[in-house]
Amino acid sequence: MSEKPIILGIETSCDETAVSLIQGDTSGVPKILSNIISSQVDVHKEFGGVVPELAARSHLEKIHLIANKALVKSKIRIDKISAVAATAGPGLIVCLTVGLNFGKALAASLNVPFIGVNHLEGHALSTKLQKKIEYPYLLLLISGGHSQFLSVNGLGKYNRLGTTIDDALGEAYDKTAKLLGIEFPGGPKLESFAEKGDPNKFELPKPIINKGGCNMSFAGLKTAVLRITKNINSVQEKFDLAASFQKTIEKILYIKSKIAIEEFCKINSVKNGSFVIAGGVAANRGIRKRLIEISQKKKFNPIFPDINLCGDNAAMIAMVGLEKYKVKNFDNLDLNANPRLALDKNAKFLKGAGVKL
Ligand code: KG4
Ligand code: ZN
Repeated sequence: MSEKPIILGIETSCDETAVSLIQGDTSGVPKILSNIISSQVDVHKEFGGVVPELAARSHLEKIHLIANKALVKSKIRIDKISAVAATAGPGLIVCLTVGLNFGKALAASLNVPFIGVNHLEGHALSTKLQKKIEYPYLLLLISGGHSQFLSVNGLGKYNRLGTTIDDALGEAYDKTAKLLGIEFPGGPKLESFAEKGDPNKFELPKPIINKGGCNMSFAGLKTAVLRITKNINSVQEKFDLAASFQKTIEKILYIKSKIAIEEFCKINSVKNGSFVIAGGVAANRGIRKRLIEISQKKKFNPIFPDINLCGDNAAMIAMVGLEKYKVKNFDNLDLNANPRLALDKNAKFLKGAGVKL
């Protein structure tokens, strides 16, 4: 087995068609040889959200082009690839299937191992593309579909400490942005709206802030924002509402992270450690600032992936592929896509009305 294996990673779980080549290194931090991402924002913009059928069609039209671009950029000959890794879930089944089948076919034709990857594990290990990090570490995964605190105990070893009981944080940003008339996906633009507003103008709820440990809830915010938007007219008031929303989210994450850090210390019998914040929403500057504050206060080392590795990308999928390759954790070509793949398989389902915290 090569000391510096080359892994081709594929990501098509939602609305990004992405292919990346990375190479393992004896330093412990792999080299990203190429990382091509083709976003479908323009395809879905007019619908205000991702349309699965259109997303899948777009993946199909582009996957071979993006793969070719990634190969050319990496300057690697195709027969030098050691293994192919592709996202197997969670995500939209029609989208996952495109990348997974492309990956299986490529692995079969090259006669190299095929590795199915959990998209969330990609986010969880994304920081390993930049620096070495010891297990266990605390992870806050905040994306368009997920919001969870996890103790990352090793490859494939996750202990969920808390989760959202309703909307994901990215979803809350996108829905609030939509109410403010911001185009999909609204998260990044809402952040710039917030910078021009008064964060103390509107009081918004902080659901389950004093209960449920580090579980979170964001759906009530969207309802409150909806009520307020009915009575505001000026652009400045929209900025103020965005700022109030941003401030409320920062407060919720600050308090819930404090609880999560304490729980992490207790279950792992440690007094300090690393706190990795990953996923699309981890690009938010205000959130970064507040989570650095709480980390320092609790003597934790805050770690954020580079902005271009926060959102969906294939380098993080290749990263998981590389770790699995090292321990020969390969998959058969009959592996199916699983839209509900979880990180902690033993964690309780905590969604919907009547959930007990
Ligand atoms: O991880 P990601 O790229 O895709 C999923 O796996 O879901 O996350 C996308 C989400 C979207 O909801 C987007 O609005 C949000 O991340 N997002 C942000 C920011 N950048 C992206 N939310 C708040 N502030 C940002 N700067
Ligand atoms: Zn993601």
